Amino acid sequence: MQLPKNVGNGLNCTSCHLNAGTTAYASPWMGLAGAFPEYRSRSGKVISLQERINDCFQRSMNGKPLAFDSAEMNAIMPI
Ligand code: HEC
Repeated sequence: MQLPKNVGNGLNCTSCHLNAGTTAYASPWMGLAGAFPEYRSRSGKVISLQERINDCFQRSMNGKPLAFDSAEMNAIMPI
């Protein structure tokens, strides 16, 4: 999936998350749904998986966050 409006650089999620998130030790996405919400020491609060994904959009991809209930977010969410 590519979301040029939300991504400020040329990266894809899979630029960093190898093989669509299935490779261990390469920031895998397997089993993630069970890991969230999680406590984040960087922000000192509990965040949802949606917030964590938006973190990657904003920090890793120099882009803009997705609305939590957007079609785009729902397309990413099953990971
Ligand atoms: C520039 C590299 C980079 C890009 C591009 C990137 N990410 Fe990440 N992402 C990371 C890093 C590094 C982590 C932290 C991995 C860790 O904690 O093991 C991370 C963590 C995550 C996590 C949390 C994983 C966990 O175990 O808590 C999710 C979910 C995630 N990314 C989704 C995405 C999605 C969806 C995209 C595309 C919209 C994306 N990432 C794009 C580097 C990137």
